[in-house]
Amino acid sequence: MPRRRLPALARRTHGPDGRVSAIGLAEEHVDRATERVRSWHLPCPVDVRQGSITDLPYPDGSFDAVWCSNTVEMLTADELGAALHEMRRVTRPGGLVAVKDVDGHAFAARPGDPYLFTDLFRTAGATPGYAQQVLRTRDLYRWMREAGLHDVRRRTVLIEHFTPPPPPMSAPATHPPSPSWPHRRRNRASPHRPGTPFSTPRTRPVRSPTRTGT
Ligand SMILES: C[S@@+](CC[C@H](N)C(=O)[O-])C[C@H]1O[C@@H](n2cnc3c(N)ncnc32)[C@H](O)[C@@H]1O
Repeated sequence: MPRRRLPALARRTHGPDGRVSAIGLAEEHVDRATERVRSWHLPCPVDVRQGSITDLPYPDGSFDAVWCSNTVEMLTADELGAALHEMRRVTRPGGLVAVKDVDGHAFAARPGDPYLFTDLFRTAGATPGYAQQVLRTRDLYRWMREAGLHDVRRRTVLIEHFTPPPPPMSAPATHPPSPSWPHRRRNRASPHRPGTPFSTPRTRPVRSPTRTGT
């Protein structure tokens, strides 16, 4: 549970009559969250336990709301079905189940090769595992409906992280700079005509982000 989310949830409960329960699989995360909860003096009781979201240690209908962030991406298809079933089971009728996760279709890094993540997910997503699970996020609302949840809505948020550009590198005197995109891209065989360069007039022009100034 990230640093600010647990206190934010605790502040949204009904004061001291409310309560928050947090669960995590890794013992060290649970220990750290327990320490933090002790030091925060939150407005309601908060219990932190070790366990799996596929087998929640709470009675049926015991919560008004369940919040789960960036965790279902870790689950296989069977585990995801079980986790959503559990979230529904422990939420009271009319309560809220909110699941937030990343969508692999939207990954991009700039400046750089705009196809980097497309290529990565095309390759890694061919077999079961994390990449497939991150590509599944876009269909999560269907899984939630299938788990028996009603009035399921999807909301997309684009999150951009910025870091300052690194300091300019002084080119080593003895080596030419290594080829960077788009040169690497151009030198690859075209997916349309094997053996032809990527930049032949028959293929789409590739524009360097640095040249467009974006
Ligand atoms: C990417 S981190 C996200 C952490 C945090 N929820 C957040 O939003 O920043 C994924 C977390 O899911 C936990 N996790 C993975 N499988 C789990 C499971 N079956 N039950 C509970 N937690 C699980 C991992 O231990 C890890 O802490």
